[in-house]
Amino acid sequence: MQIVLIAGDGIGPEVTAAACRVVAAAGVAIDWVPAAAGVGAVETHGEPLPEETLTLVRKHRVALKGPCTTPVGKGFRSINVRLRKGLDLYASVRPVKNLPGVVTPFTGVDLVVVRENTEGLYAGMEHVVVPGVVESLRVITRPACERIVRFAFELARTGGRHLVTFCHKADVMRLSDGLFLECAREVADEYPFLRFEEKPIDNVCLELVMDPTKFDVLVMENLFGDVISDLCAGLVGGLGVVPGANLGTRYAVFEAVHGSAPDIAGKGLANPIAVVRSAAMMLDHIGERAAAARIEAAVVSTLRAADGLTRDLGGTGTTDTLTDAIIRRLTRESA
Ligand code: NAI
Repeated sequence: MQIVLIAGDGIGPEVTAAACRVVAAAGVAIDWVPAAAGVGAVETHGEPLPEETLTLVRKHRVALKGPCTTPVGKGFRSINVRLRKGLDLYASVRPVKNLPGVVTPFTGVDLVVVRENTEGLYAGMEHVVVPGVVESLRVITRPACERIVRFAFELARTGGRHLVTFCHKADVMRLSDGLFLECAREVADEYPFLRFEEKPIDNVCLELVMDPTKFDVLVMENLFGDVISDLCAGLVGGLGVVPGANLGTRYAVFEAVHGSAPDIAGKGLANPIAVVRSAAMMLDHIGERAAAARIEAAVVSTLRAADGLTRDLGGTGTTDTLTDAIIRRLTRESA
């Protein structure tokens, strides 16, 4: 089976290599097809997101991706935004759950952040009106609102979840979030057997840091989702442990929530768990459910034993020690 591997920048090559080792140890033979994206791709291909990379994902349908660096305020547009728009990966899914051995202020957190991935302020439509005045357009369309809310309800329905919270700021952005809210209510009517609530995004932030256990599935537009994803990662141990998927009707790209972490890149200090768990989500997506479950169980058991943990988890280990510890559990279990 061929799957595209975008190693990305910074810690990307280190953590994706770790994930490939874990997938192999789980007994799934994958023929990884390397594809370039990020600052590194500018050097090798002359541009950050070569057309060849999009063509490879379109051909093989599924990719595992490391983070890509986007320079702030200058140079090229975010590769991630372009990739998600180019492949119409309209739904970002981040499952956020407490992990054993990872001490956090709360226990019992088990929620999913569903983020609209193609519109909102991240539509990338900005222009200078006159020097010193810039406009960013916040694009909200009915079809995109309906499909992301329906995606969230379907995820709740098929995943045995009971509550969908729609997060908005419709009191201020009356037209754009007003439309989104209207669509959310209409879709919610199709699912009378699931609970639906609508909350202003600022209230959601407050409630998340006071009692995140009351949430189940949260659905929201692009910018809100970007911020809330990181906030929620912080509730369960940080960026190093939370996996993610970008899904569309045709293609799927799996990647961690974290970025390229230039401060620790090349030092062997990156926590591989977020990308390893993203790879497990990828295996689940392609029907390798047993292998995915075994990887998740090996990660949980490694954390419980505090074996080989990296510094962000309070250990003194490296990317390799933590990957080795996960692999030891996978291979011991199948021996
Ligand atoms: P970041 O997530 O790269 O780093 C934030 C902090 O978390 C840093 O202190 C970093 O060392 C730590 N961290 C992140 N991942 C870690 C891991 N696996 N193990 C241990 N510590 C980890 O966020 P930042 O610094 O805002 O962004 C750096 C670059 O990454 C930027 O160019 C940004 O555009 C890009 N980025 C790319 C993403 C993607 O490709 N999906 C997502 C987020 C940011």
